[in-house]
Amino acid sequence: MDREAPLPTPEQDAVVTPVMGPSLKRQILVCTSKSCAANGSEAVLEAFKAQLIEEQLLFYKHNREGEIQCIQCGSVGFCAIGPAVLVYPDGIWYAHVTPADVPEIIESHLKGGVPVERLVRKRLG
Ligand code: FES
Repeated sequence: MDREAPLPTPEQDAVVTPVMGPSLKRQILVCTSKSCAANGSEAVLEAFKAQLIEEQLLFYKHNREGEIQCIQCGSVGFCAIGPAVLVYPDGIWYAHVTPADVPEIIESHLKGGVPVERLVRKRLG
């Protein structure tokens, strides 16, 4: 299909797309598909959001200066070892994550840059 209008420039897009701003540094993806959900991934997702909001690190509609976006995602193939949590741009995939692991992941990895090795099962990049 041909476009009738020219694409907006990146600068024009940035005006209406806050996530394009400079604050965002990382994304956390938490799988909430069937197998991970059966092992408690919704609680893991909520634990990340709650602590990141408390620490003013979450990028969301009430904090456009947040450094971390937390995203609910579908299955990534870790179904037998979930809940799966992926951290980008680091390319670190965690398995067997529980809400009790969330403070350690935030402190060690998201704030300190050191992945929690006992939960790492895959590295991309
Ligand atoms: S259901 Fe979560 S990785 Fe498949």
